Amino acid sequence: MSITKQSALPPWAQPQQNERKRRYLDWLPIVAVLALGALWLFKSSITESFNARCSGTDPEISLKLEKHPSLPLKDIPKHLRSFQDCSIKNLQANLSFLDTAHPLPVAEFVHRRDRLAQALVEDGLDAFLVEPGYTFSYYANVTQPDWEVWEPEERPFLMVVQPQSHGSTYKAKTTFLVPSFEAERARLLNMPFESEIELVTYEEHWNPYTTLLSSSIFSTAKTAPKVMVDEEMRDFISRGLADNGFNVHGLNGEVERVRETKSEAEIGILRAVNTGTVESVRAMRKCMKPGLTEDEVMWVLDNTMRSAGMDPFFDIVLFDEDASNPHGGTDGSKILEKETMVLIDVGSHLFGYSSDICRSFFPPFFEKPESDHDYEALSSELKEKLYVWDVVLEAQTASLHALHENGTCASVDLAARGVIEDAGYGDAFTHRVGHGIGIKAHESPYLNKGNVDTKLKAGMTFTSEPGIYLVDKFGVRHEDILLVRENGLPDLLTGQRAQGPWDP
Ligand SMILES: *[C@@H]1O[C@H](CO)[C@@H](O)[C@H](O)[C@H]1NC(C)=O
Ligand SMILES: *[C@@H]1O[C@H](CO)[C@@H](O)[C@H](O)[C@H]1NC(C)=O
Ligand SMILES: *[C@@H]1O[C@H](CO)[C@@H](O)[C@H](O)[C@H]1NC(C)=O
Repeated sequence: MSITKQSALPPWAQPQQNERKRRYLDWLPIVAVLALGALWLFKSSITESFNARCSGTDPEISLKLEKHPSLPLKDIPKHLRSFQDCSIKNLQANLSFLDTAHPLPVAEFVHRRDRLAQALVEDGLDAFLVEPGYTFSYYANVTQPDWEVWEPEERPFLMVVQPQSHGSTYKAKTTFLVPSFEAERARLLNMPFESEIELVTYEEHWNPYTTLLSSSIFSTAKTAPKVMVDEEMRDFISRGLADNGFNVHGLNGEVERVRETKSEAEIGILRAVNTGTVESVRAMRKCMKPGLTEDEVMWVLDNTMRSAGMDPFFDIVLFDEDASNPHGGTDGSKILEKETMVLIDVGSHLFGYSSDICRSFFPPFFEKPESDHDYEALSSELKEKLYVWDVVLEAQTASLHALHENGTCASVDLAARGVIEDAGYGDAFTHRVGHGIGIKAHESPYLNKGNVDTKLKAGMTFTSEPGIYLVDKFGVRHEDILLVRENGLPDLLTGQRAQGPWDP
């Protein structure tokens, strides 16, 4: 239920004894062969079961599955199989949300680096420096574990992007600082460039920073090159640069804006993965039965997303009072009952992009009161749940109206907060209203009432996720993804907002 339980640490971050590592290595070839065999068998059985389900019914579904193959499902206890089958079947009935997602072409990465070059000129900088991580993967498709599967390396491997004048515009000139003995491995990364990558290499006993400074790419500089380092740059590298002749600046200005503003291709993927995540919650909800635990719901929801090729990386399922901590923290064992307010905040990856959505609802075996008489018969606890649910939705609606070009980040937060304060629950809305989203679920800019200086730009994507958390009672949050447009209301990247506690 906590975030860490879902996002398995990347291999390099896992604590391992040397002894254990050696033992693994001895067994590696055998384990690898067995695993490949198992994977092959598993994959064939899944494909078969999907094919069995889809053949003869809807040829389009089989076609979609070819385009977006299922990820391997995690094993679940036997008593959950029918719940899971029901949920997956519901989702597979309509996979058209995947239609807008396509793998990014090399040209997309070239375009990003050229936009960075332009931003560097606007910010008056000579270069941008970044090491493997999220930002490096944004510009050149290499994550930290892609480069170092063991643990983060002490030897700097840096991407250096400089603006190069081409008539009236600027294009990126990209160079990599890399240990000499790793030069070939850097080429084997097959990074998205249209021609051979350029390297500056250093021997083990050299100073990498003075090597970079005296290399041909900085040789014409008369004063200390003014460089910007990414926010993920480790401190010892920033200091190494500053102590050896570079004028170092932190991430800021137009350079930071580059990743904040999304392209059509990115928007297509964000729309697919976020709509698909909401659809997965809806598909799963319809199959819920009394007695399920929070963890059991999480397992089935995760597998439902995997069945459509989405890779869950966090999944917070909370029942009633457990949801009064917005990020959970309880042990996942609370049991689903008829009048439980269920809160699910969940994210998946697709083509490297994140979803992050939240829905709050009643289970399907609790019938919606249709008449005034039925409504009046509800307990006061239930009436408060219904009231709070509506207040949070209204707060979200208010935030949407503030989410337009040239509005401030603060104004979006304040719009939602005003509605919740007016309803008398101001103290129970304990976090900011939202954040940017892209390759990371949380990206700048951040929508909090203190962020009065940052202006919204068309092309930025945000969550809007107001909530009310009542200790010992329940919590409600509605979270959708929105694209800022030049004029008018933002574009909804989650398909459809929640309609009510029985129609999330
Ligand atoms: C399938 O889902 C899409 C949106 O994701 C929707 O527009 C369409 O109407 C749905 N089709 C059916 C047959 O339900
Ligand atoms: C980016 O990397 C992923 C896997 O790490 C790969 O599937 C994809 O093809 C790469 N994209 C490009 C444009 O090289
Ligand atoms: C936002 O502000 C910029 C700069 O002041 C201006 O060029 C642009 O037209 C404004 N956009 C809208 C929608 O008003």
